[in-house]
Amino acid sequence: MSTAEASANIALIKYWGKRDARLNLPETGSLSLTLAALRTRTDVTRIDAPSDRFTLDGTCVEGRALERVGRFVDLVRDMAGRSDRVEVTSSNRFPTAAGLASSASAFAALAVASLDAFGVEMSPSEISRLARRGSGSAARSVFGGFCRMHAGVEPDGRDAFAVPFEGAALELVAAVVVAKASKKTTGSTDGMNLTQKTSPYHAAWVTAVSRDLLAAEDALRAGDLMTLADVVEGNCLAMHADAMAARPGILYFKPSTLWAIEAVRGMRKEGTPVFFTIDAGPHVVAFTLPAYLDAVVEQLAGHPEVECVLRSTSGEGAHLVG
Ligand code: PMV
Repeated sequence: MSTAEASANIALIKYWGKRDARLNLPETGSLSLTLAALRTRTDVTRIDAPSDRFTLDGTCVEGRALERVGRFVDLVRDMAGRSDRVEVTSSNRFPTAAGLASSASAFAALAVASLDAFGVEMSPSEISRLARRGSGSAARSVFGGFCRMHAGVEPDGRDAFAVPFEGAALELVAAVVVAKASKKTTGSTDGMNLTQKTSPYHAAWVTAVSRDLLAAEDALRAGDLMTLADVVEGNCLAMHADAMAARPGILYFKPSTLWAIEAVRGMRKEGTPVFFTIDAGPHVVAFTLPAYLDAVVEQLAGHPEVECVLRSTSGEGAHLVG
């Protein structure tokens, strides 16, 4: 049995649109921080059986999710020249009841565990490229800390992988405001697809990302949290504006999302170094400096639709565990 762990990452500058859907090639680069608290552990065992098996958080999974795992493991089987089926057992070390699931930690852990199970050796950038095939954001969870995904230009995706972002002069920690479970929202692949096809703002979004990436990298290197706050919040809201302008519009925000945005901006106005970002769901992630985390968590817990507020430092990249 091969066991790997990986942590989810939250993008400061988002990925929202693919230049190739089959190979999961992003239209733009992105910039993220891997979060220690959002961890997935995955076991992969080669089995003598007619089909793959997948258990997630103690429940046997079938249908599309099982197929997605099987197709991903096929990439590793092909490289190894083997056809053994696998038993995949995965557990998330964070509350998934509220819909805070992560394909990033899932596919980064699955990549590392499957490669080991089939005895295939790869460099970190090759693993990042492989993880990308499972989900675009998983390419970034191969690494710890801040991470920069390159969109690349090659049609085969050989230049579309993540690398650690060196030289950040800020130590960011996160408060993850987990909204209470609500009906499942549009998944990121469907959301991106519809946005790309129908949103009149999409071309402007793609242009904005290149500018935001440079500005965010500069602010991180300069340790300029206030500038970073403007760029990250602006990029997040631009992504959501792009999605909202799709037909039919995709709206990930819930009342607790807007409440948390207001709370974060209120704290910043009062001098707390904190800013927010939001992925394809209602949960708000507030980034701050370690000395302010307790106060930020306390302030963000007070909405009836907030399930809990998780706290996280930056996390390690995907790795095998004994
Ligand atoms: O990796 P995916 O396909 O789940 O897409 C991730 C999309 C966002 O979380 C909204 C943005 C990002 O860059 O992580």
